[in-house]
Amino acid sequence: MDKKSKTDTAAFLASKSDIPQHVAVIMDGNGRWAKSRGLLRIAGHRKGVERVRDLVTRCVEKGIKHLTLFAFSSENWRRPAQEVQLLMDLFLSALDNEIKKLHKNNVRFRVIGDISRFGDNLISRIRQAETMTLDNKALTLTIAANYGGRWDIAQACAQLARRVQNGETDPATITEASLEPFLSLADAPEPDLFIRTGGEQRISNFLLWQLAYTEMYFTPVLWPDFDRAQFEQALASYAGRQRRFGLTGDQIEAARRA
Ligand code: IPE
Ligand code: IPE
Ligand code: MG
Repeated sequence: MDKKSKTDTAAFLASKSDIPQHVAVIMDGNGRWAKSRGLLRIAGHRKGVERVRDLVTRCVEKGIKHLTLFAFSSENWRRPAQEVQLLMDLFLSALDNEIKKLHKNNVRFRVIGDISRFGDNLISRIRQAETMTLDNKALTLTIAANYGGRWDIAQACAQLARRVQNGETDPATITEASLEPFLSLADAPEPDLFIRTGGEQRISNFLLWQLAYTEMYFTPVLWPDFDRAQFEQALASYAGRQRRFGLTGDQIEAARRA
């Protein structure tokens, strides 16, 4: 490692703290939560919205700057039409009910994913909410809706290909860094902590590119039961880990002392 990259590594590691800057969550288990209580699946989704509200508040209190939530995957269209419709209705009503409070709390709201398939009303409400909260600084709350990690990489490639076609980029100079500005989360640091509730240990086509070095936390707790205490457990697990980014543990210790 040359001198410059050594200094960069030390500075990079010094910027990492026990509190993650960016938390990404797959909120899973709403349906099972409802089923186990003899309720309709939508009741689980409704309860899940309450947990989102709590988590946003917690993140603001803790000084976490980015929270990215998987709300609807590009594969979730395969669900029964009625559940898809109810989820869209819930998204719209949650947006209407919460956006003023989010704005008051200095939260920036935005959506990533291909929302062109959503109803016109929902699309315009999303755009309004994004514009209204654009300059808010406490926390960026990103909702991944009709999002897929493969879609994200493909759409970034399409944008880069357009630059090549226009003669603005030489294909011989393309590196990972050339693609990054076109990815959906380009303006956020990569997630430090990934949480998946509901017991499944898979990514389900969430942030494929951005999770390359993220710490993973899987819990069997169903999303509607993921309360403050559960979030504290996830944060404690994160704080207890040594992130090495390919280096050795000794190198990390030395960089921290530098
Ligand atoms: C996650 O809960 C919410 C969405 C995918 C919209 P699920 O609805 O997947 O709940 P389970 O996995 O069936 O319990
Ligand atoms: C992932 O959950 C997507 C969201 C939470 C929005 P799923 O319930 O759709 O994931 P799979 O199908 O079990 O992998
Ligand atoms: Mg599920």
